[in-house]
Amino acid sequence: MNRICEMLQIEVPIIEGGLAYVGNGLLAAAVSNGGGFGQVGSAGRSPENFENEILLAREATTKPFGVNIPISQHTDFTPYLEIIKKHKDLITAVSLGAGNPKNLIPFIKEHGLKVLVLTSTAFHSAKAEALGADIIVCEGYEAGGSNGPSELTTFTLVPQVKRVVSIPVVAAGGIVDGRSMAAAMILGADGVQLGTRFVATKECEAHDHFKAAILEADNDSTTIMTRMLKGPLRVLKNEYANKVQEMEKKNPTVEHILPMVRGTYNKLAMFDGDIQSGFMSCGQVASLIDELESAETIVKQMSNEASQLLTTSFRNFSECK
Ligand SMILES: Cc1cc2nc3c(=O)[nH]c(=O)nc-3n(C[C@H](O)[C@H](O)[C@H](O)COP(=O)(O)O)c2cc1C
Repeated sequence: MNRICEMLQIEVPIIEGGLAYVGNGLLAAAVSNGGGFGQVGSAGRSPENFENEILLAREATTKPFGVNIPISQHTDFTPYLEIIKKHKDLITAVSLGAGNPKNLIPFIKEHGLKVLVLTSTAFHSAKAEALGADIIVCEGYEAGGSNGPSELTTFTLVPQVKRVVSIPVVAAGGIVDGRSMAAAMILGADGVQLGTRFVATKECEAHDHFKAAILEADNDSTTIMTRMLKGPLRVLKNEYANKVQEMEKKNPTVEHILPMVRGTYNKLAMFDGDIQSGFMSCGQVASLIDELESAETIVKQMSNEASQLLTTSFRNFSECK
């Protein structure tokens, strides 16, 4: 049995990453209904809205799902932890990213939940294992949204992490179909996490304009913002990202530029649909996404394709010998 499937009680090791503003309950339920592991995002949601989306997800699936807490995105995460405690019987795991998980891991484990920790280096993965993480989700530089400052790609990161931890490892960043899933598993990953692919789905509550921009993306459609300010953030190229990058070249003060990269401008484009007046987190895989699909179908197709490819590759290889 695959270690991720065993730990999260799921059928295929495909995880929906936390999606700020657009990681809604129905999307999480659709991923879980496909046999993967959906997650309700907390970034950009009030505690009440977060709780409501957990309840919506539970109504829409009988299968396991989890929630995501990007630590530094919350000025006060206490109310979100209270909701996790209140609904601990509805969820299976909590994923933690964007900050030091040290103080949160014991709280989550005390309530009988599994902890996934998002990392971008082998060093931080080993630290997370020592702190009690159950699963490492290591995310490469191809990924949509915040990237690690070391800018390591998934292809080099996964084997580096595998060398230093013994707990299961999930690869994130650049995974979009069965082929990329199979590649990640060959590199040593026990499972995969996807973000961008799940935005362009029927169940995701992202605005249609954002979904259309992903479908239209070509092979040079993403760019990095805020590298020197608060770490690299991978977004779709647009007028707004260009404006921020032009300002960054002039070495602005933090007070001057920080208001421009606040979550309100992320929400404006991704949720409200004003796609030239804000920024949209998006991974390099966007150019490989051509159709709006159901998240449930994506999970089923990906796992079938990956398993067929893995079987055929081994057969072709052994026939060579
Ligand atoms: C629109 C968007 C919002 C995201 N928001 C979060 C978030 O709130 N918390 C988090 O841990 N990761 C977040 N991520 C990262 C994803 O969970 C995931 O790890 C990443 O998208 C994987 O790379 P991919 O985009 O190549 O699939 C976000 C990614 C995208 C595209």
